[in-house]
Amino acid sequence: MDSCSFSFTFGIWWLLAVTNHMIQSIEGRSPESPLQCNQTLCTLHNSYGKWGDRKDCYALNATYPTTEEELLAAVSFAVKNNLKAKVVTRFSHTIPKLACPADRAAQSSFFISTERYNRQIQIDAANSVVTVVAGVGLRQLIDAVEAAGFSLVASPYWEGVTIGGLISTGAHGSSWWGKGGAVHDHVVGLSIVVPASQSEGYAKILRMEAYDPLFKAAKLSLGVLGAISKVNLRIEPSFKRSITYNFTSDVGLEDLYGEHAKKYEFADITWYPSQHTAVYRYDSRVPLNTSGNAVFDFIGFQATSTLVSEAVRATETMFEKSKNMRGKCVTAEGTIAFKKATANGLKNNGIIFTGYPVIGHQNKMQTSGSCLTSSSILSSCAWDPRIKGLFFYESTAIFPASIFRNFILDVKKLRDQNPEYFCGVDNYNEQMMH
Ligand SMILES: Cc1cc2nc3c(=O)[nH]c(=O)nc-3n(C[C@H](O)[C@H](O)[C@H](O)COP(=O)(O)OP(=O)(O)OC[C@H]3O[C@@H](n4cnc5c(N)ncnc54)[C@H](O)[C@@H]3O)c2cc1C
Ligand SMILES: *[C@@H]1O[C@H](CO)[C@@H](O)[C@H](O)[C@H]1NC(C)=O
Ligand SMILES: *[C@@H]1O[C@H](CO)[C@@H](O)[C@H](O)[C@H]1NC(C)=O
Ligand SMILES: *[C@@H]1O[C@H](CO)[C@@H](O)[C@H](O)[C@H]1NC(C)=O
Ligand SMILES: *[C@@H]1O[C@H](CO)[C@@H](O)[C@H](O)[C@H]1NC(C)=O
Repeated sequence: MDSCSFSFTFGIWWLLAVTNHMIQSIEGRSPESPLQCNQTLCTLHNSYGKWGDRKDCYALNATYPTTEEELLAAVSFAVKNNLKAKVVTRFSHTIPKLACPADRAAQSSFFISTERYNRQIQIDAANSVVTVVAGVGLRQLIDAVEAAGFSLVASPYWEGVTIGGLISTGAHGSSWWGKGGAVHDHVVGLSIVVPASQSEGYAKILRMEAYDPLFKAAKLSLGVLGAISKVNLRIEPSFKRSITYNFTSDVGLEDLYGEHAKKYEFADITWYPSQHTAVYRYDSRVPLNTSGNAVFDFIGFQATSTLVSEAVRATETMFEKSKNMRGKCVTAEGTIAFKKATANGLKNNGIIFTGYPVIGHQNKMQTSGSCLTSSSILSSCAWDPRIKGLFFYESTAIFPASIFRNFILDVKKLRDQNPEYFCGVDNYNEQMMH
């Protein structure tokens, strides 16, 4: 209830969007597993193919438990053999290098993957709680919950994550209402496998509920406390969402964000400083009988033709080499016009955008990632490391809401010195405020 988080991405993007729109019938191929092992070594990448420090991370061995007992045995094996272990997932969408066991030699490192620990989702309708094992993907969970007549209230915008990974890193959507937009604040219990003494068999399972003094630490442990095996999440009766994007001036943004967040349950704001444009997301819960069957298929997460991703990267490299800031401003302007025309990927009838408000079921309106599930070799997620596609820097900062105003004013001061400096940022997913 008391902070704003803010992320920004640098680069170019509209050419991709426009061209991609023209060849949208092309299906994409799913990302490769981030964990690759041969006879001698296992290598872990994140989904972008590079960690922030650009160095790979290694371990001699990896294991793929399928049950809680096997997960327990894996942790026990690591502890007994004095190995540095980290849980990895089938996505590895963490941007910092969290899932690397240590900066120590591969010889003493061990990966425990939850890729095959993904089969159980149990819904307790009487208590409005879903219990899910750590390797279950977010999309799989959202759809299972919705099929049982419930909705997850909070979830990230991106569906390529597991429950274990998203809880551990504090992943979030956007909301100041109720328990807020961070998924871990809706967790009511969890089980975590932790190291134990030799007499206990080197590992044990702790089952925790909200009153446990370690509960908050265990939820947000970035993988350092143990291996989360199960998560119990609060769910609510299904509902729909009504979304309108207002592409407007950024005048007064520093005074409007608080009011905006209070007024709309799932409000967010994207800001394009170079274009003096703020996009306010008016996003509210509406009753299930409101008509509308829309889908939010966020443009940045749609499958992109390999040719387009590579062309955008080449154009961007050219602008960088020639220090052509004007070029980046032209593409930024095009990007925003395109996003406005397509409502960022909102589709009233599931196919195209026909006008606001856009109304649909909660499971279709928050979280997306259609580039993950397509299957041709001609397209992929735009950043797929197998091609020379998009490559960008991404970062996040968290501010207390009370001083966020000062941050906006500081950015405006910088912008006013030379708006062109912000064109690079405004080409990508700009500056998002959740
Ligand atoms: C394109 C893209 C879009 C994104 N959008 C959003 C967004 O909208 N909102 C947001 O908040 N974040 C977003 N993120 C960040 C993402 O949500 C986090 O990086 C998330 O942690 C990734 O989950 P994962 O399942 O891939 O976990 P991984 O990246 O594999 O792991 C993350 C960390 O959690 C640990 N971990 C994983 N599973 C377990 C377990 N079972 N027990 C203990 N530790 C475990 C790992 O050791 C590691 O330290 C985005 C990332 C990308 C690449
Ligand atoms: C295993 O993978 C590593 C890292 O990619 C590589 O250096 C090594 O040559 C590979 N070994 C074999 C036997 O393929
Ligand atoms: C790899 O890990 C498994 C535990 O999952 C263990 O049984 C096996 O001996 C390990 N192999 C090596 C070479 O360390
Ligand atoms: C968009 O925001 C502007 C203020 O910047 C306001 O005047 C306008 O009415 C809003 N449009 C909609 C559709 O709410
Ligand atoms: C939706 O249902 C409520 C009662 O649950 C009713 O009052 C309302 O008129 C209905 N709205 C529509 C659009 O059908």
